[in-house]
Amino acid sequence: MKDLHSLLPHSMAATNLNSASIFLLTFALLFMVMGHEASNSGQYPVVVSTWPFLEAVRAAWRVVDNGFSAVDAVVEGCSACEELRCDGTVGPGGSPDENGETTIDALVMDGVTMEVGAVAAMRYIKDGIKAARLVMQYTEHTLLVGEQAAAFAISMGLPGPTNLSSSESMDKWTKWKENHCQPNFWKDVVPVDRCGPYHAKDFLGSSHGTCSKTTLMENIKSRSSHVGRHNHDTISMAVFDKMGNIAVGTSTNGATFKIPGR
Ligand SMILES: *[C@@H]1O[C@H](CO)[C@@H](O)[C@H](O)[C@H]1NC(C)=O
Repeated sequence: MKDLHSLLPHSMAATNLNSASIFLLTFALLFMVMGHEASNSGQYPVVVSTWPFLEAVRAAWRVVDNGFSAVDAVVEGCSACEELRCDGTVGPGGSPDENGETTIDALVMDGVTMEVGAVAAMRYIKDGIKAARLVMQYTEHTLLVGEQAAAFAISMGLPGPTNLSSSESMDKWTKWKENHCQPNFWKDVVPVDRCGPYHAKDFLGSSHGTCSKTTLMENIKSRSSHVGRHNHDTISMAVFDKMGNIAVGTSTNGATFKIPGR
């Protein structure tokens, strides 16, 4: 916690980093987002990240404190997490899909140009946020996916193709297979308690009873069983640079045991 002090703007360094100052940071962010004039009286730069990914915040802070743009800082911050494989939910080597493969999603938004770049289900490339930035900077698209996103990234100079699996992700996947592929992201299919291939439960696609309270509750219950500390979330980062410009980004390897393709 002490470390975070050095990352905060000078005007905030005096306050203890407790929930109150986190609230202040959030409030400052909201205040800016709501469109107030950017008169910089020491409140910039600001770096905010999900989870206590200190190294990622530090990396972003170094960049933005040296006068580089908010986009540069977001890319550097999220890259740091990709390299460190923060939480196993960012970068290579985590969250195997149903086939045991790790794939990458990332997005960056530039508050100055209002441009967006993203990749999804990208194979063989570990640098998700850098690939997203390349999409933003050098294409008219916002989203490239899968193997073609990988081909684009390599053609633009990112390293690859790389095996994104790790012994941990393979172990996790093997155990899941041994547990009959439970839990998984399928619904209204058979077989219920085994691995696929799966088939629609009701061939005619009839929606009998889907409005009933019981079915609704069952759906909510089965959805919430997917939610836990280690099967959701990742790094998301927002940065204001010294000019008061904002950029945001995120990078993840997605949900564990997802159906390949998102
Ligand atoms: C990728 O790496 C994993 C984990 O080290 C390994 O089990 C797997 O065989 C590798 N795949 C390929 C195609 O080399």
